[in-house]
Amino acid sequence: MSKPKVFVTRLIPEAGLAMVRNACDAEIWPEDMPPPRDILLEKVRGMVGLLPLLADRIDGEVMDSAGSQLKIISNYAVGFDNIDIQAATDRGILVGNTPGVLTETTADLAFALLMAAARRFGEGIDYIRADKWKTFKPMELLGRDIHHATLGIIGMGRIGFEVARRARGFDMEVIYYDHRRVEKGETIGATMCRTLDELFERADFISLHVPLTPETHPLIDTAALAKMKDTAILINTSRGPVVDSDALYEALSSKKIAYAALDVTDPEPLPPDHKLMTLPNCLVIPHVGSATVATRSRMAVMAAENLLAGIRGQVPDHLVNPDVLAHRR
Ligand code: DGY
Repeated sequence: MSKPKVFVTRLIPEAGLAMVRNACDAEIWPEDMPPPRDILLEKVRGMVGLLPLLADRIDGEVMDSAGSQLKIISNYAVGFDNIDIQAATDRGILVGNTPGVLTETTADLAFALLMAAARRFGEGIDYIRADKWKTFKPMELLGRDIHHATLGIIGMGRIGFEVARRARGFDMEVIYYDHRRVEKGETIGATMCRTLDELFERADFISLHVPLTPETHPLIDTAALAKMKDTAILINTSRGPVVDSDALYEALSSKKIAYAALDVTDPEPLPPDHKLMTLPNCLVIPHVGSATVATRSRMAVMAAENLLAGIRGQVPDHLVNPDVLAHRR
């Protein structure tokens, strides 16, 4: 019997790829760069399953190009803003993602960015590279204390919660805002703010853990930045467009806020000559929140499991569009 045809849009860790190869007739895009749009539209034709990355835009056109046999799109990411979920649901296509396995790894990175920003790692490295380190200077590269500072977490989901747990270990006061008013943060001693404005006004550090949706695009704009402390440090490990890059540039260059540390940007990738890259008080790294050997492998296995479940007509463990079950293919 012929194996189901699937398209995997990049090389992912072997642990997951081997599962896909064993069970499917898999076409795997071998290049680092995403398949160009016209190639993507061509490659998906006749596929029963797709396994894309967050850099691949999977909309109704791609789904229609695939054809009516397409059963599942299994994203290699927990975020799924690259997929038109409504279009998938309308067409009866399952969409899977990879929650949970990257939670702690991403929280580690958010906390690493918080520390790197507070203690000005980026500037310190540049300082040595520019041969400016001549002696110990009592007033050079002074940063901010992390211990006993107030951390404001926006979005108390899995990752926000893990960041809060890490912050407690550093004796930080943790406050949070979540529009769903989840009380989960209070179980580890974090205090829920009634409004976002309250969080902006009180926090020394602000860490973003919200999905990209029409409501959060952008959440951090000129008005939001204006409400923050002049000493505030902003950390973004969620999605780039949650922060308005132009507004952030203005706030950082005018010292309206003190510092930003970004794992995600808008645009993404951020070109090296982007104006944010000219600022000493902006630290940017290339979307590596989940990038550890173990986590990327676990994501590959989970994405493969979702894919295989979908093509076998089962409900994947991690389904982002349960409404589809009423009329799936
Ligand atoms: C995700 O999974 O959404 C991260 O941004 C990348 O792993």
